[in-house]
Amino acid sequence: MKNYNRHLITAALPYANGPVHIGHLAGVYVPADIYVRYLRWKGEDVIFVCGSDEHGVPITIKARQEGVSPQVIVDQYHTLIKKAFADFGISFDIYSRTTSSTHYELASDFFKKLYDKGEFIEKTTSQYFDTEANQFLADRYITGECPHCGNGSAYGDQCEQCGTSLSPADLKNPKSTISGTEPVQKETLHWFLPLDKHEKFLKNWILEENKHWKVNVYGQCKSWLDAGLHPRAVSRDLDWGVPVPREIKGSEGKVLYVWFDAPIGYISATKEFTPEWEKYWKQEDTRMIHFIGKDNIVFHCIIFPAILKSEGSYILPENVPANEFLNLEGDKISTSRNWAVWLHEYLQEFPGKEDVLRYVLCANAPETKDNDFTWKDFQARNNNELVAVLGNFINRSVVLTHKYYNGRVPAQNSLTKYDKETLAEISELKTAVENSLDNFRIRESLKYAMDLARLGNKYLADTEPWNLQKRDPERVETIMNISLQITAGLSTLIAPFLPNTAKKLCQFLNIGPVPWTDIGSAHLLKPGHHINKTELLFTKIEDDVIDKQLDKLRKTKDLIITNNNSVKPQKEIISYDDFARLDLRIGTILNAEKVQKTQKLMQLSIDTGIDKRTVVAGISEFFEPKKIIGKQVCILINLEPRKIRGIESQGMILMAEDEDGTLKFITSDDTVNPGSSIN
Ligand code: MF3
Ligand code: ZN
Repeated sequence: MKNYNRHLITAALPYANGPVHIGHLAGVYVPADIYVRYLRWKGEDVIFVCGSDEHGVPITIKARQEGVSPQVIVDQYHTLIKKAFADFGISFDIYSRTTSSTHYELASDFFKKLYDKGEFIEKTTSQYFDTEANQFLADRYITGECPHCGNGSAYGDQCEQCGTSLSPADLKNPKSTISGTEPVQKETLHWFLPLDKHEKFLKNWILEENKHWKVNVYGQCKSWLDAGLHPRAVSRDLDWGVPVPREIKGSEGKVLYVWFDAPIGYISATKEFTPEWEKYWKQEDTRMIHFIGKDNIVFHCIIFPAILKSEGSYILPENVPANEFLNLEGDKISTSRNWAVWLHEYLQEFPGKEDVLRYVLCANAPETKDNDFTWKDFQARNNNELVAVLGNFINRSVVLTHKYYNGRVPAQNSLTKYDKETLAEISELKTAVENSLDNFRIRESLKYAMDLARLGNKYLADTEPWNLQKRDPERVETIMNISLQITAGLSTLIAPFLPNTAKKLCQFLNIGPVPWTDIGSAHLLKPGHHINKTELLFTKIEDDVIDKQLDKLRKTKDLIITNNNSVKPQKEIISYDDFARLDLRIGTILNAEKVQKTQKLMQLSIDTGIDKRTVVAGISEFFEPKKIIGKQVCILINLEPRKIRGIESQGMILMAEDEDGTLKFITSDDTVNPGSSIN
């Protein structure tokens, strides 16, 4: 690695449209904070910046739903998020926000500079426009029928029923969610960042010069680069965001794309924090690291670097140690389904246990693959590791010192080989922690830090001072002295991970912070030094506490299930004429057979009274072909014929679908002639 003189550590700016949960902490903020605290302990020059990401369409949608302005929404969540981070000891030097005036100015100037340098291309594209609301529609503001599954309320960017990503033009019968009217296509001018022009540079920079990046990060970048880069729009037609600078022709009604302005938020935050901000952003001897989740990789490894490079005076990140996702009890964490452990709720339910959550999330950090948070694991790690290993060792050292020596550190008499080996191991563990942290293997580093407590427990168990007190008091003095030296070393080695615990430990030991470089010293506590009494650092978490959390989640799940399956809302009102256009009849099933190689489809031959025709229906999961022959069914006969798996379907059988998706035929309560109309 190059020689660096300072570090700039960024953590992804969370969207200010919801509170933060354990997934955020585990994936980004706890690892980042541990890393930063470690650098500070080592005496490095480091700045740690973050803030709320307050622009983007979802925020405007939330505001509209709640009937308030976007500013009200972001004010509310900014405050909540900022507090949650502070409560968990995430030690940002500054937690800013992208609605700050510094940011508006800086992001705007940035855009202007790129524009002036000719780094953008201008393109006119055609986009949906709501003539009644008089505004262009973001993809999320358009709903319509999904061309793949027929879901009538798919969004312009995605169908949530079948998961297909869409573009608004794919939707059938598009509607604006603002006015409910059908949007029209209208031309609009936008600025694009020609990523293709930066492809060569990016390929070399990432694939050749950054081979040290984590495999998940490197791999994702490589697949983007292999697929080829294309120009990306950096402006939007929206009334919420940093306005495109007025000096630019055609800028009216346009704002910067949220992913253009948000990463610039890192710069604005630094600028708000220190007048020396340019040193951190523009000097080659600054080491910049972005802590993010995996969904942010392309923005931080490809797009933002291209933006910085286009500007010309900024440095690029030295590493982007992105993490994977944390699941909760086997399911994806979801804000909209309320499937999460919210930080503000945890604090109410587990007051004083901030370090416990930090510990569990770090021990479980989704570093190389998605990981699962379970309450049982939380309990087990608390009880078996924090209480039984760390708490137990510290407690024994301190309590025995009080018992034998009234709280005075005893002398260190002659050292045995085992004593020396034990002391040497402290330094080895320190090096192991450093080595793991230097390589962003944060979980592993926590394990090594805990190994120091394990070492202490083993030392006490092996030397058994409680059995020697009468026989060999001199030996006991040495044993207790060494135990206390381990305890003092621990107070710093665990500090990046468990800052509150580390502080309490220093209070017990009645010492100030032990410098990082002194970890491993055999003389951190002088003989005669008086230590304080302990309180328990960690307490056992009982089953009922965990059951309560599991119950809470179970209730959420029940709610999710009822919500998903609840009766669908009424569709919009139609006229009688609309209804009369449907030609509904009773028909008789003459023959039925499964369509080969499909799960659901059945080919039916129907006597409609008018003719005999073929209809393909998705009913195979519910009926056996033989059993439905002869059945009278309700059929829509004037539906436009459609080819399904190569078979022309001439009409549609009407089915009743209950909450869990089971299908039943709709039929007449007595036999009627085929062709009888339904009206
Ligand atoms: N708000 C984004 C998210 O939560 C992250 C933005 S990171 C920044 O996914 F670089 F844009 F700031
Ligand atoms: Zn769909």
